[in-house]
Amino acid sequence: MMYFNSPNIVYGEEALDFLDQIAGNKCFIVTDKNIQDLGYLKILTDKLEKSGKSYKIFNEVKPDPKEEIVLKSKESCLSYEPDLIIALGGGSVIDTAKGTWAMYEFPEFGIDDLHIFNNKLYELGRKAKLIVIPTTSGTGADATYAAIISRDNNGVWQKLIQAHRGLVPVFSILDPIFPSGMPANLTVNTGLDALCHAMECLIANGRNEFSNTLATKAIQLVFKYLPIAYKDGKNMEARNYLHQAATMAGLAFGNANVHIGHTTGHCLGAVFEKTHGRTVAVMLKYVTQFCLNNPDKDDPTTRIYANLAKQLGWAKWEDNDKKAADIVINKLEELYKIVGFSDTIQDLGISKEDLEKNLNTLVTLCFQDASGSMSPRLPSKADFENIYRYAYEGKDIDF
Ligand SMILES: [Fe+2]
Repeated sequence: MMYFNSPNIVYGEEALDFLDQIAGNKCFIVTDKNIQDLGYLKILTDKLEKSGKSYKIFNEVKPDPKEEIVLKSKESCLSYEPDLIIALGGGSVIDTAKGTWAMYEFPEFGIDDLHIFNNKLYELGRKAKLIVIPTTSGTGADATYAAIISRDNNGVWQKLIQAHRGLVPVFSILDPIFPSGMPANLTVNTGLDALCHAMECLIANGRNEFSNTLATKAIQLVFKYLPIAYKDGKNMEARNYLHQAATMAGLAFGNANVHIGHTTGHCLGAVFEKTHGRTVAVMLKYVTQFCLNNPDKDDPTTRIYANLAKQLGWAKWEDNDKKAADIVINKLEELYKIVGFSDTIQDLGISKEDLEKNLNTLVTLCFQDASGSMSPRLPSKADFENIYRYAYEGKDIDF
């Protein structure tokens, strides 16, 4: 038995108008102060007012949402008794809203109850529907059933990855008006995060026919439209397709998983306090090369990437798999150059000494990261260390 989980998706310019049609009059809005300052919240509240809906705003979400904030949002939501919960923001806002929704429906639940075996979570939606409106084009959190919530564990911030299929939002509204306000560097970092989701899940152990199709299309769209949005942030065609690509990639990896690109990138970000999109995008080429070098002749990675190159017209159908798969690496390098992105750890502003000093911690964290086990080629401790060392220098992986 296999599953494919997805929200209902409303997309394209003026997708926000869908709010006129949806039943429900009391909206609990989860967002953050930055979204408010950018004027995005006003776009939403104007729309709700025109639709005759009332609302209450919870704007206290911060990056990497902490358990206390999610619980505060829950209490605020419980006191308002909405029939719609609307998340307006990036991944942190969306994750906070997922937790709030589950605990509003089941007030007896705490964060620890939001786990994969709690089948009560299939009943979400009886009190309120969760509507997610992403403002960036990258995380794909609008399409997944995971919520990452941080907990203070004796002075160390532990990231809890809470997940259940019931946590998939009911609606995802993809209106390009929101990402069109992103500056070029955020456009690139979030767009490359989406690319990493798609590139990784294409070969991850959870891959399936649905995820393969969506990931391939997402890769095609990012390659075509990220350079355009990077140069001209107001190009609405590019914004529209990139926004869709991020959700396609979210659907793909949400149903297939990512692997050691996110493992190594995520751990690098945690240790050196660098943003998620940047670190995973730095690691992508190196982990792809590592997987392509798999000595196991039955491993399908080379064939999969060769097919990708052929499907996207980068290679000829008669090319051998090795040649075609190598073109994927060349295309990645080309794209990074066009959008001004450097894929070395040293260009993240980390010194060689600092990397070496923290290598042990990094590798320990990598082995604790669940997505690492989804890699078609599992790195040893020495492999992880060397992947980081090569990524530091920008050297092609030759092992
Ligand atoms: Fe990501």
